[in-house]
Amino acid sequence: MKFFLDTANLNEIREAAKLGFLDGVTTNPSLIAREKRRFDDAIREICDVCKGPVSAECVSETFEELKVEAVRLSKLAPNVVVKVPLTKDGLKTVRALSESDGIRFNVTLCFSANQALLAAKAGATYISPFIGRLDDAGHDGMQVIRDICQIYKNYEFRTEVLTASIRHPLHVLDAAKAGSHVATMPFAVFDKLISHPLTDIGVARFLEDYRKIPK
Ligand code: E4P
Repeated sequence: MKFFLDTANLNEIREAAKLGFLDGVTTNPSLIAREKRRFDDAIREICDVCKGPVSAECVSETFEELKVEAVRLSKLAPNVVVKVPLTKDGLKTVRALSESDGIRFNVTLCFSANQALLAAKAGATYISPFIGRLDDAGHDGMQVIRDICQIYKNYEFRTEVLTASIRHPLHVLDAAKAGSHVATMPFAVFDKLISHPLTDIGVARFLEDYRKIPK
């Protein structure tokens, strides 16, 4: 399973990169707005630090505008993946540009397995189902991940399931059990995957006992 950071914060991205677990980054307009950076500059800087795929999201709504924006974003850096919303115009954009222009697309704001099936048929590189937002609305977000993984396997789609809107470590665990190719998570969740209170207690106890050994 690949680990992506869901952030536009360069310090967080650098820290995860240093640990050696950073496979990619996902951003969205809300995350970039928090950093108070110009959009294109923020994407270029992230692409410098993270050599894996970096998702940059389109904000256009019509097919014609999306096509122009997707081409522009794809040229910001070689590792840019263009994010488009799961709308009719978004899917048309993926269909039009993924094969002819070789642009990699992450289809975002996916909330159902049928939507994910359409994104795969359109030629998306990644599909981003938002499980936290589904859970927040009283649905079972993880069931959508299981359904998509099953459907993609049935038909041998190459689109990767990028579990998004992750809120806690259990989401990562369940996504891994379902066979999701990627989990994108806030830095706080990534940090929680490493720590366990019993590990800390165990380290302290071993150190204490080591000091008792005659030198
Ligand atoms: C990732 O690509 C999404 O933009 C992100 O995971 C959304 O998360 P949120 O529901 O916490 O805003």
